[in-house]
Parts: sequence; C-alpha cells; structure tokens
Amino acid sequence: MPPTLPRFAAALALVAGVALVVPAAPPYSAPPQKPDEVAIGGQLLFATWPKGQKPDAVLVVSGQTYGYLQPCGCSRPQTGGLERRFVFIEHLKAKGWPVAAVDAGDVFPDGAKLRDQARMKYAAAMASMREMGYLAVGLGKSEIKSDLFATLASYGLQKEQRPFTLAANAVGVIDGKPVPRETHFKVDSDRRPMVEALEVATVGKVPVGVGGVVGRALSEASKEGKWDTGLDFPDAQKSVRGILKALADHPTKPELKVLLFQGPSADAELVAKFDTGFDVIVSSTDETNPPMVPAKVGNTLVVHTGTRGQYVGVVGAFKKPGGGFELHYQLVPMTEAFLTPGTDADAYKANKVLPILQEYAKQVKDAKLLKEWPKVDHPAQLAGAAMQPALKLKYVGSEACKKCHEAEYAVWDKTPHGHALDALEKIAARPTLRNFDPECVRCHTVGFDHKTGYVDDATTPALKHVGCESCHGPGSGHADNPRAKDLHELLRPWAQREAGVFDLPDMKFIEQMAKLDVIERGKVPLKPAEQILINQVSGMCSKCHDADNDPNFDLYKYWPKIVHGKKRAPGEEMKKK
Ligand code: HEC
Ligand code: HEC
Ligand code: HEC
Ligand code: HEC
Repeated sequence: MPPTLPRFAAALALVAGVALVVPAAPPYSAPPQKPDEVAIGGQLLFATWPKGQKPDAVLVVSGQTYGYLQPCGCSRPQTGGLERRFVFIEHLKAKGWPVAAVDAGDVFPDGAKLRDQARMKYAAAMASMREMGYLAVGLGKSEIKSDLFATLASYGLQKEQRPFTLAANAVGVIDGKPVPRETHFKVDSDRRPMVEALEVATVGKVPVGVGGVVGRALSEASKEGKWDTGLDFPDAQKSVRGILKALADHPTKPELKVLLFQGPSADAELVAKFDTGFDVIVSSTDETNPPMVPAKVGNTLVVHTGTRGQYVGVVGAFKKPGGGFELHYQLVPMTEAFLTPGTDADAYKANKVLPILQEYAKQVKDAKLLKEWPKVDHPAQLAGAAMQPALKLKYVGSEACKKCHEAEYAVWDKTPHGHALDALEKIAARPTLRNFDPECVRCHTVGFDHKTGYVDDATTPALKHVGCESCHGPGSGHADNPRAKDLHELLRPWAQREAGVFDLPDMKFIEQMAKLDVIERGKVPLKPAEQILINQVSGMCSKCHDADNDPNFDLYKYWPKIVHGKKRAPGEEMKKK
C-alpha cells in the first residue's frame, strides 16, 4: 500500500486530497507557560505597540460568547472560557494599564435545547463579566430570540449593576404600537431601564462613552423570523446619531467613544463612514476566525472577535499631543497560558469567575436538568416500529450484552468508553458536578438523546458510560431474540448490504492508513461501498468525537484502540458474510 495507480488517477486523487485539507485556524503558538509568552501570527502580544509607554486607556473587547463559559476539557488544548478571560484582564491590570471591557452581545447560547440552562449560563456569564470590569454589552440575536424580558431579569432585575445591556433603538410593541424603550424596559421609577442607550465611565483618566444599537440587518431578520413580536428595533441610523449627540452633551465629556453595533462588519463599516465620531465600533459577525488587523474606516477601528469567546480583542488608546487618540489593536487567543495557576483550591480563591461557574454547575444539578433533556427516537427505534409495530426497542445496558458477547465486553471494559462517565465525575474540575450537566452527560453515557436512554444515576444505572448501545443502538430486541436476522441489521446500520460490504477493512489496512496523510490516503483505492461504510462508521463516532470536543479524531487511528467483534482480530483478513 498504496498500490500503483494510473498516472491520471493519482493526479486526480492528489487534487481531491488537496481540496480535503481543512483550512487552518488562525495561528497561535502551542500553549506556553506564561501569559507573556503568548504569540499570535508569529508575534508576541503587544509587540507592535509603542514601547515603554503605557496606554492612557485600554478597552478589552469581546462578543458572541454564546454561553461558552468554559472549555469542556474533552481534549487539549482548547481555547476560550471565562476563567482565562479573567486571568488575562488581571494580567493587563498588573502592567499598570487602566482597563475596561465591553461585549457586543450574544452572551446567551444560540439554539440551546434547554431554555432554563441557557438562562443560567447567561446570568453566570454576565456576573463573570461584572467581576472583570465590563461596562456594557450589546443586545444580540440570541438574546432577542430568548424571551428577552426573562433573560434580562435573570441578571439585572435584582440589582442595578454593570454590565448594562445597550440597544438605543429597542422599543416594545403592544397592539401593533411602539412603546418607548424607557417605558417598556422600566423596572421602577428610581432605576435605569433594563435596556439602556449608553454607559459612561472614567478609565484611568480617560472618560469613555459606550453606546449600543441593533443594526438594520438584525432588525429586519428579527421581524421576518418573528423572533419576538413584542420587540422592534427601528431607525438604527437615527439612534446612532442620537448616541453621538448624547455623548457630546454628557457632563463627563467622553473622549473615547465606542459603539456596540449588532450587525455584520460591512454594515458597521458603513456606520463608521457616515457617522464619524466613534473611535471603536464593535460589530458582530458569525465568523469563527476574527481578523488580526481590524478594519480602519477614517479614524474608527471596526473590530469583531469571532464566536464562542475563543478570542478577545484589546484596544490601546494613546493620547496624541494635539488631541484624539492613537489606537493600537491586539487580538488575543484565550489559550491555556491564561489558566489560573496553582491547585484548584488556589484557583477558586484567586479567580473571581470560578466560584460563579461553580455556582452555575450547582444550579444545573439542583434544577435536575438531566431529567428535562428532550429525547427523540433513535433511527433503530423508528425502523423497529416500522418492521413490527409492537416492537418497542429499548436500551438495556452493556451488562445485558456481556453474557453472550464476553470477548467484546472484555475489550470494551478496558477502553476509556468503559468508564467514560467517570471523566465528568472525577477529572472535570473548574467547575465540578459535570455529571449532572446534560450538555456534558450527552456524550459520556448511553443513548442520552434518545427515548429509554440514560437519564441519571438513580433512574438508569445500567446506562452509564459509552456502552455497546452508544454505537450499536438500543438492543432489547436483539438481546431477547439474538437469532433474528432483521434485528442484526439494526445493530450495524453502517453495513452496505446490497454491495456485500459488511465490515470495516481488516486491521492491516487500517493500521497502514493510519500512517498516511490525507493526500496519500486519497490515492489508496477503495470500492465506493467500502468508502461509504468507513464514512458511516466515522460519522457515527463523530457524533461524540466532533470537531469541538475531539479535533484529533481519526477513525483509522482510533478504531485500533477499541477494535472488537468476533470476526475482527488484529491482522485477520476481511471476511464477508
Ligand atoms: C442471548 C445472547 C445475546 C445477547 C444478550 C446479545 N447478543 Fe448480540 N449476538 C448474539 C448472537 C447469537 C449473535 C449472532 C452471531 C452470529 O451471527 O455469528 C449476535 C450478534 C450481534 C452483533 C452482530 C450483528 C450482525 O450484524 O450480524 C452485534 C453488533 C451484537 N450482537 C451486539 C449486541 C449488543 C450490543 C448486545 C446488548 C444490547 C447484544 N448483542 C446482546 C447473542 C446475543
Ligand atoms: C459531543 C460530545 C461530547 C460532549 C458534549 C462532551 N464531551 Fe467530554 N469527551 C468527549 C470525547 C469524544 C472525549 C474523548 C476525547 C479524546 O480522548 O480525545 C471526551 C473526554 C472528556 C474528558 C476526559 C479527558 C481526559 O483527560 O481523559 C473530560 C474530563 C470531559 N470529556 C469532560 C467533559 C465536560 C465537562 C463536558 C461538558 C461541558 C463534556 N465533556 C461534554 C465527548 C464529549
Ligand atoms: C464506540 C462504538 C462501539 C462500542 C462502544 C461498541 N461497539 Fe461493537 N462494533 C462497533 C463497530 C463500528 C463495529 C464494526 C466492526 C467491523 O465492521 O469490523 C462493531 C462490531 C461489533 C460486533 C461484531 C459484528 C460482526 O458481525 O462483525 C459485535 C458482536 C459487537 N460489536 C458487540 C459489541 C458489544 C457487546 C459491545 C459492548 C460490550 C460493543 N460492541 C461496543 C462499534 C462499537
Ligand atoms: C456516545 C459518544 C461516543 C461515541 C459514539 C464514540 N465515542 Fe469514543 N469516546 C467517547 C468519550 C466520552 C471518550 C472519553 C472517555 C474518557 O476518557 O473517559 C471516548 C474515548 C475514545 C477513545 C480513547 C481516546 C484516547 O485518547 O485514548 C477512543 C480510541 C475512542 N473513543 C474511539 C471511538 C471510535 C472509533 C468510535 C466510533 C466507532 C467512538 N469512539 C464513538 C465518546 C464516544
């Protein structure tokens, strides 16, 4: 392997192989030991900023965190998380820099399955940002879609506190008529409304003014999608001008002016072009890879920092002798270099975000959200019911398979799948209690997304860990009736029966493929049905070993570590049924 191929086929495979290469993420160095050693784009952080000169004000910029509070820790290294963001901001303050922070919005998770959990995440993220010195956040689509009042209340109702949510053009709609923001979002007479137009603060010696607006694109999408018919976001441009005027008239005379603009960067650039006066406009754009060098329109920096909190941006404002600021920008990946040093106990004392995340994990446990997770039929449950309406396939647990499949069980028991739930109970820290979090438990148990699958320790003790049925599907029918051929088929849905291809290629082939790179693999001939079977098995694994949780997944490298099945043994030739 690989055998010789006709020249043109090799050339074609090469082209196909090249096309398969995954575009690289923005470059960042391998996790170094110290914050000062973090590099991006081949340069240490702040290398291009004026040397030996402290900025007069520093603005940390983030956005679209979408509830990503903390990396899951499934694989390493992962970027992002609020623990690291806190450490990073403390690191800036330790340089003697005056720091404040703003966020474009979309703090709330997008498309979360459980609204209650999403709201707990939102409140935890807002509280964490308060501890980091955030002044304000914008109002994003995920918040607009989330039943905004309840979301805002989960953080802002008890107490008037930063970060304030800014959307100058937000209005209520009652009986088709607009209700002004100040009235619609009013809490009581001596408090600011829960959605504000601007926030002003003094950072170091620099008065900073921040405004927020929902751009036209989002406003229209909200209307079309009927995200919340009780809300409207009219006249973005008029509101932008209103913010500029309000800042000009403000008694503190803000010198550094910032706009949180909910909308695509291209629209934010138009705002910068037609409504000069902002030093920084933070836009929101669902691109994972944020630019290292932000757009500069006139004197305005237009920045966005990607999604999921993997990066933050830092704007350094240096006063110019003749007035105004010289602005410098640094994109910063939230790598492991910004983990809180020391033991977990030390970290909980030093990092004000960690106790908030722990409280979040406890709320999830106390709310018993594991029981709330929506369950849908597994494809085998649907197929089983189509075969025989009375056949209601259930998950029975790996112990039930053991008595007839001892050899497979013995292999499985020694793989990490055999104790996968322990990782949540014993390895996951900062915070702990992840074995009560449905968003974690999903991939560390049997059939959590499906009817009769794992619920919790007490209800379904047999379905802990990644068991046989995590891959083979609910097995009650087969366990009751092991000779039924039609039920065998449901246990191996990847088999290409019509083409007579039932099994993965033999181990010799798999181990050879594991050694090849993507381009070389592209040259190895496989029958279409063989390729389909491999893709289907790989796709099944990738429901858990997905790009976020395990970016290194490669069936050829992983299967040998869990290989089992009577017909397969290392080195054995492929047999067909
Ligand atoms: C009562 C005994 C028994 C139990 C319990 C049992 N099996 Fe089987 N299993 C068999 C027999 C017998 C076969 C057929 C072997 C053959 O055809 O060579 C089989 C075949 C299989 C196959 C191969 C199907 C195919 O494509 O031919 C899979 C996969 C499998 N079992 C998984 C499981 C799982 C998962 C469980 C637990 C949910 C389980 N078995 C429980 C006896 C059992
Ligand atoms: C989409 C599926 C998926 C979800 C959701 C998921 N995990 Fe995992 N997890 C995995 C996979 C796959 C691995 C094994 C990765 C590997 O070995 O490279 C893993 C491994 C782990 C490990 C073990 C790492 C080790 O050192 O052995 C921990 C700890 C962990 N996950 C924690 C979590 C936490 C906490 C959550 C929830 C925030 C979570 N997981 C959610 C799929 C998932
Ligand atoms: C991580 C996914 C996964 C888990 C967990 C898993 N299997 Fe499998 N199993 C597979 C795949 C994929 C194959 C197909 C292998 C092939 O075609 O060579 C297979 C093959 C088999 C076969 C042989 C089928 C045949 O006819 O060749 C049996 C029997 C089997 N598994 C039983 C079990 C039992 C019992 C358990 C639990 C103790 C288990 N499996 C756990 C994925 C899994
Ligand atoms: C239901 C979710 C799920 C599915 C499906 C799944 N895995 Fe896993 N896998 C996990 C989790 C979770 C872990 C981590 C367990 C731990 O470390 O405690 C893991 C760990 C592993 C490991 C150990 C990784 C290491 O770093 O040593 C291998 C190998 C593996 N899986 C292979 C596979 C293969 C191959 C498939 C498909 C045939 C598959 N898995 C399907 C959830 C899954």
